[in-house]
Amino acid sequence: MTNTKHVEVLKKANDEIARNKGKVENSPYRLKYHFMAPVGWINDPNGLVQYKGEYHLFYQYYPYASSWGPMHWGHAKSKNLVNWEHLPVALAPSESYDSGDVEGYGCFSGSAVVDGDELVLIYTGHVDGNEPQQVQAIATSKDGISFEKYDQNPVIGQFPVDGSKDFRDPKVWKYEDTWYMVVGSKKDGKGKALLYVSTDLKQWDYKGVAAESDGTQGDMWECPDLFPIDDRHALIVSPMYGTQNEKPFYVIGDMNYEEDIFTQETCRTLDYGFDFYAPQTLIDEQGRRIMIGWMEKWLTKMPSQEHGWAGAMGIPRELVLEGDVLKQKPVAELADLRSDFKKIEPFEVVETTNVNELQETVSETSIDFNIKETDATVFGIHLRCSEDGTERTEILLDLEKKEIVMDREHSGCGEKGISKAPLTVTDDGTVNLRIFMDTTSVELFVNDGEKVITNRIFPDADSTQFKLFTNGGKVSINRIESWKLDFVWK
Ligand code: FRU
Repeated sequence: MTNTKHVEVLKKANDEIARNKGKVENSPYRLKYHFMAPVGWINDPNGLVQYKGEYHLFYQYYPYASSWGPMHWGHAKSKNLVNWEHLPVALAPSESYDSGDVEGYGCFSGSAVVDGDELVLIYTGHVDGNEPQQVQAIATSKDGISFEKYDQNPVIGQFPVDGSKDFRDPKVWKYEDTWYMVVGSKKDGKGKALLYVSTDLKQWDYKGVAAESDGTQGDMWECPDLFPIDDRHALIVSPMYGTQNEKPFYVIGDMNYEEDIFTQETCRTLDYGFDFYAPQTLIDEQGRRIMIGWMEKWLTKMPSQEHGWAGAMGIPRELVLEGDVLKQKPVAELADLRSDFKKIEPFEVVETTNVNELQETVSETSIDFNIKETDATVFGIHLRCSEDGTERTEILLDLEKKEIVMDREHSGCGEKGISKAPLTVTDDGTVNLRIFMDTTSVELFVNDGEKVITNRIFPDADSTQFKLFTNGGKVSINRIESWKLDFVWK
């Protein structure tokens, strides 16, 4: 039975998008190969899934303005994780459990699974002022385009004893023949991942706390994602400390499906940048675990807002477990965007060197530093650098402090700030930096994705120089390879 109210609000949203999308297409700051909505505001990726061979990406979406508002689920699909086709909005607030008339409400974050020939979305219905204000609901589709909310929603209408009114972002996966779901929550000052099981995605039984903060990992856990990887499990969390959203972390450990408990072993920061939040993963048909994160953060200055849009997704990253380190590798498909290959043979930096070959701002660049032959202790890169050097984004390697830094104090009109990550030199005495630049973003992968720093930057279009520098001593470089990356939004 089709729900007419839902159909109406979806139509209104899709009409609004059709009317306004032309206005942002050529606006400044639009990215060239990152996912963006056609217009309006986006935050978390939702419902990542491969269905009938195609990747689907849903996202928290407010199509009516460039700031957060009643949440819809935007929708796009792709054959290769790189070229995306925008589809009609999948979910819009329409029911008593996901719609209201005061301030905040909507279809909050969640996930998707394929059940037989159906695509099922599992999301949080949020309504400020409702008791309880957050419940879990589902919607299904047979064509992967139009979704119908289940008429017996909500499927979980009350938070359990271990949770509280903050009870959101269900992530569902299948283990053997059972559906498992973790939901983010908080209680007694601790963020928690609450566990449910089901055989039909409709009737859910509460199993207890799968994992919770050890006291240092945040008092509210948003967007928990618990998944098998090799013979271990990983838990990804976007933590809040009070009202502050902090950097997502990952925990490697083991899931005991008999006792419904995930045992935490090692915990590490997932991305040391400012602009990476609410990531979610999917497992694809090739068995790859792929993660996409929101490339922006709550409560920051977003220069694109004046131009009718805000928010983008970071490049999809394949997660590979090496020991207890979750390496993040840009998906192989991104290589299809490469052109205009440049290779620079070994050379030494003894003072600031302007590398003319690397002035392409929409690019991928890989640099191998030879640390054994380097006697400088502090050196690095200035990218998106203006002619006079006053505007720049600095990547600094500090061998003494064993730190890698991305400094955007002079990066242009966006938010400032300095990101730092621990730096390790590999056994063969090198450090590799792989840098993905887009018009207004930098994603830095250190040593094959062992550490990642993601930041938005908003430099002048003319700031295109790429310089290598040392603060004293010489730096030895084994190799630089670089490509221009193609535009996917044409
Ligand atoms: C994370 C988050 C989620 C929530 C959604 C609302 O960024 O706060 O917890 O479901 O955004 O848009």
